[in-house]
Amino acid sequence: MKVTVVGAGAVGASCAEYIAIKNFASEVVVLDIKEGYAEGKAMDLMQTASLNGFDTKITGTTNDYSKTAGSDIAVITSGIPRKPGMTREELIGINAGIVKTVALSLIEHSPNVILIVVSNPMDTMTYLAHKVTGLPKNRIIGMGGALDSARFKYRLAEALNAPISDIDGMVIGGHSDTGMVPLASHATRNSIRVTEFIAEDRLQQVVEDTKVGGATLTKLLGTSAWYAPGAAVSALVQSIACDQKKMFPCSTLLNGEYGLKDICIGVPVILGKNGIEQIVDIPLSESEKAKMKESAEGVSNTNGLLEV
Ligand SMILES: NC(=O)c1ccc[n+]([C@@H]2O[C@H](COP(=O)([O-])OP(=O)(O)OC[C@H]3O[C@@H](n4cnc5c(N)ncnc54)[C@H](O)[C@@H]3O)[C@@H](O)[C@H]2O)c1
Repeated sequence: MKVTVVGAGAVGASCAEYIAIKNFASEVVVLDIKEGYAEGKAMDLMQTASLNGFDTKITGTTNDYSKTAGSDIAVITSGIPRKPGMTREELIGINAGIVKTVALSLIEHSPNVILIVVSNPMDTMTYLAHKVTGLPKNRIIGMGGALDSARFKYRLAEALNAPISDIDGMVIGGHSDTGMVPLASHATRNSIRVTEFIAEDRLQQVVEDTKVGGATLTKLLGTSAWYAPGAAVSALVQSIACDQKKMFPCSTLLNGEYGLKDICIGVPVILGKNGIEQIVDIPLSESEKAKMKESAEGVSNTNGLLEV
């Protein structure tokens, strides 16, 4: 199992680290455009191997795609992150060009690769990856919902004063401050709906805190977060690499599911060795349907800014 991570920045390096620590991949290649940067990150990470007990071989390269040849999975984290006060959508001007070049270079050397798109605005970058590569839809996956769901569970656990391992919940919709749709009515503590434990106004606060989860961290850190994004990507990579068939909300090209077409947006999917093996079409309440429709309109508007 060979995994390439493009972008050796905050998210790319965190993702490579979590993949290595979980010890399921034989090789991780980290690629960056900045001279020596990926090589440095790879060497630093390899020097944690004896301490953290992994055998995954991590190597770095400065923009040499021949080193990524034969990758089973490639993660695209290259591009600029947002600064405090910015939306993810504002990154499109720079990141679209980067994602397009990177996706095409990856498939040139790894024609069977499964792509995981992380760069923002992620749903639009996932759509762009489809348009420029023409890969089958099961092989292009956008990572956003897995992270947003982890943030939702963190906020729910805080509100319920419960351990996070007791909590289950999911966020679908667009990966944006306004587009996320946390499925509050479906969230549970040990199979009991969280609405049994907290009042409606507290649950609404959890929903709002979840939607601005990324912006809150960007304000605190001065740039966007990396630990939870890296961990979320590594969970998707592991489900594919180990054919776990886990369910995550991921951005995927829809063709009628959830009443949407020709758009990539977050919905529950099953991830196995073929990438997206199934789109899970769950029944939504009228209010969730309306939120999903509004979210899709936002993603479509951003897609309209693409020059493809
Ligand atoms: N989808 C999500 O849930 C999620 C979460 C966090 C961050 N992000 C996004 O991920 C991206 C990366 O964030 P970060 O914090 O790691 O940024 P970063 O600036 O720390 O790292 C980005 C790296 O990409 C490299 N790069 C730029 N152009 C490149 C190219 N053409 N080829 C190869 N490498 C190139 C840069 O040199 C840099 O090292 C941003 O767009 C950010 O908004 C998405």
